[in-house]
This record gives sequence, C-alpha cells and structure tokens, in this order.
Amino acid sequence: MVLKRVLAFAFIASTAVYAATFDVTFSTAGHDVPPTLYGLMFEDINHVRSGDGGLYAELIQNRAFQTVTPGTSAALTAWAALGSAKISVVKSSSPVSSALPNALSFAVASGTTSTVGFTNSGYFGIPVTAGWTYTGSFYYRTPSPPATKVSGSFTADLRSTGGTVFTSATVPFTTSSTWQQATFTFTASSTQTSVENLFALSVGGSTVAGLTMEFTLISLFPPTFNGRENGFRMDLSETLLDMKPAFFRFPGGNNLEGETAADRWAWENTVGDLVDRPGRVGDWGYINTDGLGLYEYLQWIEDMGMEPIMAVYAGYSLNGASVASSGMQTYITEAINQINFVIGDASTNAQAAIRASMGHADPFTLNYIEIGNEDFFSPTTYADYRWADLYNALHAEFPQLHYIATSATSGNVPTLSPTPTYWDLHIYSNPNFFINGAFNFDILSRNGLQFFQGEYATTTENSGAALTYPFIDGSIAEAAYMAGFDRNSDIVFAASYAPLLNHVSSTQWTPDLITFSPNTVIRSTSYYVQQLYSLYKGDFYLQSTTNTASSPVQWSITRDTSAGQYFLKVINTATSANTVVFTLPFTPSHTTGTGTILTAPSGTQNTPTSPNAAVPSTFSFTAGKTITYNAPGLSLSVLVVTE
Ligand code: AHR
Repeated sequence: MVLKRVLAFAFIASTAVYAATFDVTFSTAGHDVPPTLYGLMFEDINHVRSGDGGLYAELIQNRAFQTVTPGTSAALTAWAALGSAKISVVKSSSPVSSALPNALSFAVASGTTSTVGFTNSGYFGIPVTAGWTYTGSFYYRTPSPPATKVSGSFTADLRSTGGTVFTSATVPFTTSSTWQQATFTFTASSTQTSVENLFALSVGGSTVAGLTMEFTLISLFPPTFNGRENGFRMDLSETLLDMKPAFFRFPGGNNLEGETAADRWAWENTVGDLVDRPGRVGDWGYINTDGLGLYEYLQWIEDMGMEPIMAVYAGYSLNGASVASSGMQTYITEAINQINFVIGDASTNAQAAIRASMGHADPFTLNYIEIGNEDFFSPTTYADYRWADLYNALHAEFPQLHYIATSATSGNVPTLSPTPTYWDLHIYSNPNFFINGAFNFDILSRNGLQFFQGEYATTTENSGAALTYPFIDGSIAEAAYMAGFDRNSDIVFAASYAPLLNHVSSTQWTPDLITFSPNTVIRSTSYYVQQLYSLYKGDFYLQSTTNTASSPVQWSITRDTSAGQYFLKVINTATSANTVVFTLPFTPSHTTGTGTILTAPSGTQNTPTSPNAAVPSTFSFTAGKTITYNAPGLSLSVLVVTE
C-alpha cells in the first residue's frame, strides 16, 4: 500500500504586514462564481469503511464472502455460529453466480433438536431504530438434499449480543439443490442506544438435523436515502446534503487505481444484479463489495442535486507500474464504455442499455471526466502516452465533456500534449501552509487553465503532530485558504476537502471531514467551514481591497444576485480578535443583518465524546454603508447584507 500525501504545489508566501484593523472597500466589479465551486471528494477509504459500512447502507459485513479464501477463519469475518451448527466458507460446487464463487456452509448434526443458525455483527455494530422497516434477503440451497423435501421456516431477527430479540420475521424454505432467494422485512419497535447488535438467521434444530445448507448474499438494509433499493445511508446523506454540495468526485483517489492494473476499479464489475458483482480488494486493503457501484453512485448524485466528477483509470497503479503503451487500448475502451454507461443512448448503445435496464433510461448528467489520479507519481508515462491516448480517444468520442489532468504545478510536472485545460491539484499540510497559501492562486497566470483543488486538508499541527480529527486551528486555516478559492474562482472551478468519511471504530487516514459510527454522525470543525463556504458561495465575486498572504485575517465578498444578498466572509486565523471595517458600495436596505460564526478556543475538536464542541451560531450586526465587525480569534464569520 502506497499512502500518498502530497504537497502538490509550493508557492512563495509573502511577508506578513498587517494592522489590527483591516479596512475593506468593495465595488460591484468582479467575476462570476462557478456553480461547481464547492463539492465533495469520495472514495471507499478508512477500513471499515466509508463506502461499504458507511455511505452504502448495507448492514451485513462480508455478505457474499467476496475475495476471501475459503476454509480460513478470516473468510468468516463478522459471522458466528448459533447453537451447535458448524459454519465455514466454502467454494460452492455450484455457485450462485460466476461472480460469487463462495458460500457459507451451514452444517447441522443428525439428532440436533435445539435452535441452530448463524449471526452477523455488521460493520462494527448494527443500529436498531424504532419505526425502521428493515429489508432483507439471502440465497440458499441444499447441495445434497434429502430424497423427501424438507420444508420449514427460518427466523430472521435483530438481537442484542446477549440474545434479546428486538424484531423478527419468519422466512419459509424448502430444500433444493438449486439456489433459491428468500426475502423478508421486519420493523423495529424500539430504539437501542447500543449498536452492539447482531443479525441472526436461525431454525429449529430438529427441522434441519443432518442437513448441510449453503447461503450467500445475505443482505439487510435499513430505510435508505430517498427510499432507494440498494441505497445510501440516510443520516450520512442528509449530513452531506446540509452542505449543499455541487459535485461529487468519485471513485477515487487511490481507490480508482488498484495495487496493480488487475485490481483497478473497473466499472463493469460494479453494475447489474448484485450476484454478478465479484467485488475487489480495494486500495485501502479491504474488500469493496461493489454493491455501491457506478449506477448507485450516479442515482444518488442525482438525488442529492450534485453533478459527478467521474474518474477513469489511466493506466497507473499503486505498485508504481504503468500500463505499457501497447496495452492502453483495453483501458481506453473501458473508459469509453464507462462514459457510455453514464450518458449513452440506451436504444443504440450496449452499456447505456445496462443503465436503462437498471432503471434510468435517460442519460445522467456528466460534464467532467478526470483522467487518472495523482499521475505525477508516474509523470513520464502520463506525459509520453497515457494522458494523450485517453484524452484523444475520449475527446473524439465525447467532445462535449471536459477532461481533467491530474498533476502538480511544481515538482514532477509533466508537460502534457494536448495541453489540458483542467487540472486537479492535491495538498495535505499544516495550518501555516494554508494561512500562507491564501494567495496561491492569485499568482497564477490567467492563460485559460482551470483548477480543481480536488483534495486538501490540514493533516498535522504546525509542530508536525498528526491529527485524529480536524481541529479549529486547522479548519480556520483552511477557511483562509478557501478565501483564495472564492477570490480566484475565475480560474478555480471546483474544490473539495479529503478524505470525506471515516468509521469511528477503524480507520486508516485521519483526519476526515465526517466521522460516523453505525448510529451517529460527527461533523468536524472543517465540515462547518466547508458548509459555510458552500451555503454562502453566491454567484458573483466582488473585488475588494485585498489582504496579503500570511496575514491573520482574510476575507471574501460574494453576492447572490437574484436574492440581492451579499456574503461578507471574515476569517481570523489569529487567536485574538481583529476588526474589519467594510465600506459598501450601497446602503443596505436592512439596518440589522444576520451573521453566522464558527469559532472555538485553539485546539478544539469535535470528537465522538464531544461531537458539538464547536458548532456555528448566529448573531445580529448593525448594517450601514460602513460595517465594523470585530472578528473573534480563530473564527470564520459570514455576514449577510441585503441590498
Ligand atoms: O484522500 C486520501 C488519498 O490522498 C487519496 O486516495 C489520494 O488521491 C491522495 O493521495
């Protein structure tokens, strides 16, 4: 596993010269703010998990024994036997599909009378919530059925680890050597504070004594966002929706690339019936079920009112190897097919027809394609042929789309031909870097290039100490940096913090924007910064007297033209207060304005034990042609002024 932390571009910070009071005069001159400016970067990262066990609402971990080695204890991850039953993972002699070769073997000794079955502990727990109707299904067969068919009923339930059953359903079955699918629902009548619960499938021992049965694709979903089958977790979706994100970059990040080309995220393995999805070992070292597949991503993106920034594999994997020039055609065809799945005409294109068969006959919205991820790790092959091969072929097929190159503006910068218009840049650093970098984009020439800050985050304190959760000092530093996105949104068309999500019980990369458990969501201090920028993005940036890099105070003024509202963002990265005096080009119609502020003492973090240590609050201020605002230390404030 190669963990790539990148300072994608370095700039010269100017020396700080500032006063305690900052005078800001703005006019009505400026430029449009692109509607795509603030969005989300997502990949399945953070074992276990931001996709499986996270955004993807499936509750059963290891539901289809994908990519495991039969006969090993690891193959039984999350599963345990109930009663005297013997369970193991086997390579089925007659698998449910070629994509899912393995099954859970469930053997019950002759003479058994007591209850037998098996349980699953979910992704570090299973939430039990009053009023939720859970939808379940599984495949089963009896490889050597008795001459006389046996019929009976399983009981599917949710229970505590101590055995208290909260809700259950009866699931009839009949022995057969061919695979049958059983479905069931049950509704919880109580909410359990603890998530240490199990899903259980059990049966009276005398019914199945002497039988060996196989099970696979054992699935249980809670209610999902927008009620979608095979859908997304509601609370996480709503948390993201609260940010009003404009775009969703997926499926990576590293998780696009594979440890080798054979392990890459390959769209065709992620669509169609769930039994036809083999899953893969993702780039963060754990199984991706690919139940969260290309179709599910796109449908959810549409439901959320976002647009996709979709990556295609570009022939570079994390082992450092590049696909040879002679081998690129496979991946070019794959990328064309992937795009056709998204926007092709279902009446004439085979990949688009798969999309239509899954329920979306019309093309999805698609404007941006990212070609690879962090290809500065293999700049020579990207420059020699990978970029050109993919760009030329995709552009010829889909000239209406915008193609994003992944690289840096300094260091290993490949000279690409054709010259890209769109670049994705990544930065992980400390608060000082982001404070000093607030003017990084100001110094770039206006030569037609457009930038996507596709990944950035404060990952360490200035001392270099690693962060587990975002802290207010870093989040406010990011806010200072983001004033540069607003100001330079003539050349910065999109920006997204990364990574987005992590499971509180097991994680690989910290900090993350949102931390969750099976039944809680923790919004970090950086989440609130992202949210305030996104909610108060506006559609027009207004030029003002500007500050300098390294100054403790930054600001940005944007306008929502149709609402006649001006958003005055003030970022104070110092620990003590600073005053900003705005001189407006008009007299506000309302003499009292409303503002929102995120501020907290240095070091504050929102954590599982203190999830609301820093949350935004609102305040009133006096609005006139001049507005004097005293910004508290370590704060991001947004003052809304009505024309
Ligand atoms: O966001 C985590 C990782 O950082 C991404 O997968 C990769 O693109 C970058 O190195």
